[in-house]
Amino acid sequence: MDPMKIIYLDNNATTRVAPEVYQAMIPYLTEDYFNPSSMYEPAQQTTRAIAAARKSLADGMGGVDPKEILFTSCATESNNTAIMGTARGNPNRRHIITTSVEHPAVLGVCKEMERNGYRVTFLAVDGGGNVDPGEFIRALSPDTLLVTIMHANNETGVMFPIEQLSRLTKETDASIVFHTDATQAVGKLPVDLMRELRYVDLLSFSGHKLHAPKGIGALFMRRGTRCRPYMIGGHQEDGRRAGTENVPYIIGLARALQLALESREQDEARIARLRDRLESALGDAIPCVQVNGKGAPRLPNTLNISFHYIEGEGMLYQLSEFGICASSGSACTSGSLEPSHVLRAMKVPFTAVHGSVRFSLSRYNTEDEIDRVIGVFPQIVANLRKLSPYWDNERNAPRPDAPIVSP
Ligand SMILES: Cc1ncc(COP(=O)(O)O)c(C=O)c1O
Repeated sequence: MDPMKIIYLDNNATTRVAPEVYQAMIPYLTEDYFNPSSMYEPAQQTTRAIAAARKSLADGMGGVDPKEILFTSCATESNNTAIMGTARGNPNRRHIITTSVEHPAVLGVCKEMERNGYRVTFLAVDGGGNVDPGEFIRALSPDTLLVTIMHANNETGVMFPIEQLSRLTKETDASIVFHTDATQAVGKLPVDLMRELRYVDLLSFSGHKLHAPKGIGALFMRRGTRCRPYMIGGHQEDGRRAGTENVPYIIGLARALQLALESREQDEARIARLRDRLESALGDAIPCVQVNGKGAPRLPNTLNISFHYIEGEGMLYQLSEFGICASSGSACTSGSLEPSHVLRAMKVPFTAVHGSVRFSLSRYNTEDEIDRVIGVFPQIVANLRKLSPYWDNERNAPRPDAPIVSP
């Protein structure tokens, strides 16, 4: 497929590297290749470049101490470090609280903790995809060591009230560690760890969701947090994350956050307008549609929309014939035919859970691209419904014996 013709609407899975990010990385992929641990001057120059990148990220997150930012390889590593490291740092407690809609990079680790004898509470979510703060408080116990709740959901874009939940945690017991997986939030939402998020101890994110390359992530670790290192070996990152620093990618991550912050407000408004136009045009043109997470605060770039009585995979396949890239769940789980654990937790009816598509936009999307999707999508749905045993093509409505769906 001609890459120039692709309409890329899968930015919650990954993003293209911004040209400015690539430019910033080039010197460190070519002539400035030195190991920052070496003593000679050219290597010390790369050490200073890392320090500047760390400072720039710390400033971009509300002016935290640069020492509180650790570079990792990805958000999965940051989440593993946060959860397993906190458990190792707090051996007297055995209870963890999370939600049932986390990314597998948190859910999988929590399930592993359960297998290792920890008690894990997987909080349910309501139909809008959010947790009930009352139920959250009731789940806290004197044995709770860690709360890990995502900032924004990768499938639906639903945003969690992290400010409130982290404050409630610390008011109940200041020694409970609060972690948030902010992989879908950083670069899209303001993330201020000195103000709204001042009760958050640990925060994970990843470069490839904000136009930096894959293979670089970070973990904010507030000073004084009891969290043991996960990667053990060398002295890098003050002994908190061993392994030679990925210098070019660290430089790229810092440049990517700078770019995102420079234009965040304009981008957010423009992207939300495009997303809303797509959402209302598809809702107007196609019967039996539901927007998952509608009504809850959502990321401006994400639309998770279900078309009753058809399969998401069929829609994705046909969209891809037109060069349109979208997804039917998180990229990590879309290899399986299992319906999304997030939509199931939100009790999306089974007639819709299989027919869901996630469109996730970025600052590189244009109005023309959205118009092209609006132009082809109703026919794709109509074609697939022709094959559906539950659809009456004469009336363009469900057959009388089709399972009932709430509108
Ligand atoms: C919310 C969330 N957490 C974690 C991850 C994993 O990120 P990485 O690919 O950097 O390990 C993703 C990726 O989709 C995500 O969306």
